[in-house]
Amino acid sequence: MAKSHTTFVCQNCGAVAQRWQGKCEACNEWNTMTEEAPSSGIGARAVAGMGKGRVFALEALQGGGREAPRIHSGIAELDRVTGGGFVPGSVILIGGEPGIGKSTLLIQACARLALLGRRVVYISGEEAVAQVRLRASRLGLADSPVELAAETSVDDIIATLKQGERPALVVIDSIQTMWTSAAEASPGTVTQVRMSAQALIRYAKTTGACVIMVGHVTKDGQIAGPRVVEHMVDAVVSFEGEGGRQFRILRAVKNRFGPTDEIGVFEMTGAGLSEVTNPSALFLAGRDASAPGAAVLAGMEGTRPVLVEIQALVAPTSLGTPRRAVVGWDPARLSMVLAVLEAHGGLRLGQHDVYLNVAGGLRIDEPAADLAAAAALISSLTGSALPGDGVYFGEIALSGAVRPVSHGGHRLKEAAKLGFRSAVAPPGALEGQEKSPLTLSACGHIASLVADIAARAPKRNPQRPTAVS
Ligand code: TYD
Ligand code: MG
Repeated sequence: MAKSHTTFVCQNCGAVAQRWQGKCEACNEWNTMTEEAPSSGIGARAVAGMGKGRVFALEALQGGGREAPRIHSGIAELDRVTGGGFVPGSVILIGGEPGIGKSTLLIQACARLALLGRRVVYISGEEAVAQVRLRASRLGLADSPVELAAETSVDDIIATLKQGERPALVVIDSIQTMWTSAAEASPGTVTQVRMSAQALIRYAKTTGACVIMVGHVTKDGQIAGPRVVEHMVDAVVSFEGEGGRQFRILRAVKNRFGPTDEIGVFEMTGAGLSEVTNPSALFLAGRDASAPGAAVLAGMEGTRPVLVEIQALVAPTSLGTPRRAVVGWDPARLSMVLAVLEAHGGLRLGQHDVYLNVAGGLRIDEPAADLAAAAALISSLTGSALPGDGVYFGEIALSGAVRPVSHGGHRLKEAAKLGFRSAVAPPGALEGQEKSPLTLSACGHIASLVADIAARAPKRNPQRPTAVS
């Protein structure tokens, strides 16, 4: 007979099943179901208290602006990502791989805020108070009046926070180390994480304090285990970077109080994270403008123009099926651009491996990158280097037409600021930009881009006559 007093909870998505299953039916993950007490599943509590509701008053949609002002962290790149500062009573989940700099960023934000006279509490479930202090003193923040504790019991934390003045900001580092006696599951399980997050969210909503929770991220980019937490919080921010590189990108994945396309750029230095106010210069640093296969995209990240180099390598394949590898861009988008170049640009790529890389570790997902990627691919295939002082932007349609993208003026202005002299873009994006100091070339179809680049190819390149028909 089946045991009626236990349920099985998926540690990945939080789905509840009555029997053990090798594969979760909700998220299709294998070996994620673990046995837990029944009171801990989704909805278990709601059913228990049914029928005893309290009557409450409904309110009109329009009404007095009771919204408290946002709290500025004093770190402009962080405020940009949160949409202009922390909203009182909101909960932010910040995810990132171990060692990327989450604790460093948060202790810096806490210290700034505390120096501005706000009450700030930093709770570490991973490090001892002495370790946090040591880090703060290395960062030159030791004299900031941040209140510290090394605790993992959410019940104790909330009881402590409710004493004294309400904090403006509470940092919980990390949510995976927290546990509450309200759940019987062992610490670290999805049930504990969810119940702890729930308690902290309730605390934030009822008191108006802003709570930031750190969440660890697994190799495949999921905030480990508690994907459910992502749905419960007001904003999810991810902190990314590449192992060997010094800079880090803060990106809003979800934001109930602001846009999700803004990025914040930081550099990890010996003295902690410093803000990078001109990311284009950083992404373009050290590039070899004379090599074929590199094109500069005049891109946009939210409201900010960002210039970044797109590198392509197109080489004859030695395999039956040519390789297609891409870093920092959508592989489906690359396949589409390659198909359009074959169908409408007259290129033959079936016998070539194609590698595409967005330099500097940035991840791009705006369609304006199509034209720069295409230019880099054509340049690599034909061996014809693109002008080092030129930028590209535009969306490529399946018909081979190059379609306009927004913010043409912003993109051109940023390119001019960084010393670029020419731009290739769809005609629509260049309308009204005659005053730009750049030499503008309108490109309305992919075939004209191929013709322009191929015309500059070195004469003795053996690739050219066969590759471009
Ligand atoms: P940390 O904030 O502990 O990462 P997380 O909380 O995301 O796990 O950052 C640790 C890394 O940052 C560590 O590898 C050392 C580096 N670091 C610096 O380079 N400079 C600094 O001033 C600090 C404090 C850390
Ligand atoms: Mg940490």
